[in-house]
Amino acid sequence: MGTLAFSFIALLLSVAAVTVRAQTDPRDVSAMQDIKNSLVLPHSLDWSSGDPCSPWTHVHCSGGRVDAIQLGGTNVSGTVSPSIRNLTALRRFEVMNCGLSGPLPSFSGLSNLQAALLHHNSFTSIPSDFFQGLTGLQTIDLSYNSFAAWSIPDSLRTATSLQNFTAVAANIVGSIPDIFDSVIFPSLVELHLSFNNFIGGLPASFADSSIQSLWLNGKAGHSLLNGTIDVLAGMTGLVEVWLHYNQFTGLIPDLSRLENLQDLSLRDNQLTGVVPASLMVLPSLRAVNLTNNLLQGPTPAFASAVRVDMAGINSFCLPTPGVSCAPEVNTLLSIAQAVGYPLKFAQDWKGNSPCDSGNPWSGITCLAGNITVINFENMGLAGTISANYSSITSLQRLILANNNLTGPIPTGLATLPNLKTLDVSNNNLSGLLPSFGKSVVLNINGNPLVGTIVPTPGSSGTPGASPADGGTSASSTKKASAAVIFGSLAGGVAVVSLVGLVVFCLIRKRPESSNKVQSPNTVLVVHPHHSADQEGVKITIAGSSENGGTSENFSQGSGTTGDVHVVEAGNMVISIQVMRNVTNNFSEQNVLGKGGFGTVYKGELHDSTKIAVKRMESGVMSDKGLNEFMAEIAVLTKVRHRHLVALLGYCLDGNERLLVYEYMPQGTLSPSFQLEGTRPEAPRLDEKIKHRPGRWQGC
Ligand SMILES: *[C@@H]1O[C@H](CO)[C@@H](O)[C@H](O)[C@H]1NC(C)=O
Ligand SMILES: *[C@@H]1O[C@H](CO)[C@@H](O)[C@H](O)[C@H]1NC(C)=O
Ligand SMILES: *[C@@H]1O[C@H](CO)[C@@H](O)[C@H](O)[C@H]1NC(C)=O
Ligand SMILES: *[C@@H]1O[C@H](CO)[C@@H](O)[C@H](O)[C@H]1NC(C)=O
Ligand SMILES: *[C@@H]1O[C@H](CO)[C@@H](O)[C@H](O)[C@H]1NC(C)=O
Ligand SMILES: *[C@@H]1O[C@H](CO)[C@@H](O)[C@H](O)[C@H]1NC(C)=O
Ligand SMILES: *[C@@H]1O[C@H](CO)[C@@H](O)[C@H](O)[C@H]1NC(C)=O
Ligand SMILES: *[C@@H]1O[C@H](CO)[C@@H](O)[C@H](O)[C@H]1NC(C)=O
Ligand SMILES: *[C@@H]1O[C@H](CO)[C@@H](O)[C@H](O)[C@H]1NC(C)=O
Repeated sequence: MGTLAFSFIALLLSVAAVTVRAQTDPRDVSAMQDIKNSLVLPHSLDWSSGDPCSPWTHVHCSGGRVDAIQLGGTNVSGTVSPSIRNLTALRRFEVMNCGLSGPLPSFSGLSNLQAALLHHNSFTSIPSDFFQGLTGLQTIDLSYNSFAAWSIPDSLRTATSLQNFTAVAANIVGSIPDIFDSVIFPSLVELHLSFNNFIGGLPASFADSSIQSLWLNGKAGHSLLNGTIDVLAGMTGLVEVWLHYNQFTGLIPDLSRLENLQDLSLRDNQLTGVVPASLMVLPSLRAVNLTNNLLQGPTPAFASAVRVDMAGINSFCLPTPGVSCAPEVNTLLSIAQAVGYPLKFAQDWKGNSPCDSGNPWSGITCLAGNITVINFENMGLAGTISANYSSITSLQRLILANNNLTGPIPTGLATLPNLKTLDVSNNNLSGLLPSFGKSVVLNINGNPLVGTIVPTPGSSGTPGASPADGGTSASSTKKASAAVIFGSLAGGVAVVSLVGLVVFCLIRKRPESSNKVQSPNTVLVVHPHHSADQEGVKITIAGSSENGGTSENFSQGSGTTGDVHVVEAGNMVISIQVMRNVTNNFSEQNVLGKGGFGTVYKGELHDSTKIAVKRMESGVMSDKGLNEFMAEIAVLTKVRHRHLVALLGYCLDGNERLLVYEYMPQGTLSPSFQLEGTRPEAPRLDEKIKHRPGRWQGC
């Protein structure tokens, strides 16, 4: 009876065992055998049965499939068999803190795998298709292995469920791939890639990522990431950012959108510029480390709840947090800002006194405590010329030659009372030239775009970068009108203005086309600033008659972007006879005003268009001056702008030099200025005017 019962139970047990074994997927059984054979198992693990689901220690099954292998901390060693790819139901593979070595096999196709914790082993390599098809992978840690140098493979893109990607000290080389945006990785929270050997910059796609914790800090003396950290400004999910021990340059961007940011470590980089005030009021900030950079301006003052470290070699003007720098320091900083806070300045401009002879600031020369010379020649500066140079009234010489400056020459420079020399040669400046006094020696050679207006995309907010107004507000130019004409009368006209033209000869031949709106016009640009004495203004301009350059330079890119048009010069020559007729033979009754440069008369054309005729004092211009004047008109006629008064034409006849403008007595803009597209292109002349001086003598 007892024997029978025992046999029965034994039978039941063996049936049960058979049943269990039959339920385990034979591919998993076979794969696990391979895995077991390649591992060196510690004695504490019992993997002796024939069925991994029977079970083996730290192996979990579900529905006859191997679901989890959790050997973390078990001191297992050996290698991982490539057969792991056959465990297609595997969800977790944990072998962290063990003694595994050899190459990691590919995990590709393990679409159910959610967690792969492989850190703190001695794996020697990782195949490039490792991540292929790991569509369920949420967290992976590859940190602290002995990988041969590898770069993040493109196959990572397929791991679209990734939340935590951790590979600290994993010998990753190459650049950080530009794939971490929220379209590819909508759930990415942690990107922990410290202590690797990346090169290059932060990828632009970070700006659109959902990352909350970003670790890209390098090793002391081994820092390689470079470029700016501007992309952080868009990473609004960030809570923690570690970028220390790299070679990041440029300024700390405005991080005011990072409302959850708690921990910001930027130490040991080469950041320059003024710490943005918005950083100091971030609501969640708890720790910030700015030590060992080249930050400038006032020492930032953070709330007492924030743990702050900003010792080291920063370049703050004063040590006490929150105390403003001297005004001249602020001015120089705003000048540096317009060229991206170059490292050279950040290294040399220490303290709160640019004129401290014991601590010379590079590029700055002082006399009796006033800045007299700024010489930034050949410093590789890229950016714009700050309008704030105009507040250094003691400035006598400003040398910005041989850099890579773009944008306009700010009109404010023409107001510097002591300026003797302005050398901006060999840059890439554009825009119209402000009217400098004759005592100023100008060199603007090597700026092929000066005289044209180049729209600068996205330049709003950059000091001095506004293309149309040279640093003054557009509204000031809107005053337009007769006032502009008289303003330019007081100053020397010529040079500043540009002009369009009515082809009077055509008008006379084809009266039906003399409707004002249809009249081809270009535009007069008058700069609002005029220095005290401007007569005989001396201008050198690329493409002037002096160097044989031609106005062709300016006919390229006859852009119609924005509200500025560069147009081809046409025939704008007006007969002296016509001028006599419309001004009543320059009658006293027609005088609108007088200035140093000449007298302005009003007149009216056949079609009732009111005009203002400026008659230069004869003998005002030498032949050379005249040539330059003509070259200037050739340049300026290429530009038209809807806010500016039209120059309709000019006349040179014997000693007569006349400029003809549209006349707007009320100071309002004519509709044709406000409506884009109502001004037809000027008819093109077959020859450039400057090449046919004979044609100037009356048409
Ligand atoms: C893994 O699967 C492949 C095909 O799916 C098969 O050829 C191979 O033998 C399997 N390996 C093991 C160890 O079962
Ligand atoms: C881990 O395994 C190695 C041999 O593989 C052995 O020398 C070592 O003592 C083990 N350590 C522990 C903590 O079990
Ligand atoms: C990712 O890391 C965070 C913080 O370490 C943790 O709370 C979260 O559970 C991790 N996610 C996964 C899928 O492991
Ligand atoms: C960043 O470093 C690489 C070399 O690692 C260099 O080629 C590149 O010009 C650097 N970029 C910047 C912006 O400094
Ligand atoms: C800031 O970084 C320096 C090293 O550059 C380090 O010594 C210091 O402990 C850090 N401070 C904080 C508050 O983490
Ligand atoms: C620079 O100029 C801007 C306006 O153009 C002004 O708001 C700012 O205060 C100036 N900065 C300095 C330091 O002069
Ligand atoms: C600087 O210039 C101003 C006027 O331009 C003058 O009053 C002053 O004495 C000069 N020197 C110093 C040290 O400010
Ligand atoms: C100036 O800037 C342009 C555009 O960024 C660049 O292509 C060029 O190499 C630069 N030139 C110099 C001399 O730095
Ligand atoms: C000069 O600037 C213009 C745009 O302002 C740009 O298209 C051109 O490439 C630049 N030239 C050089 C030599 O950098």
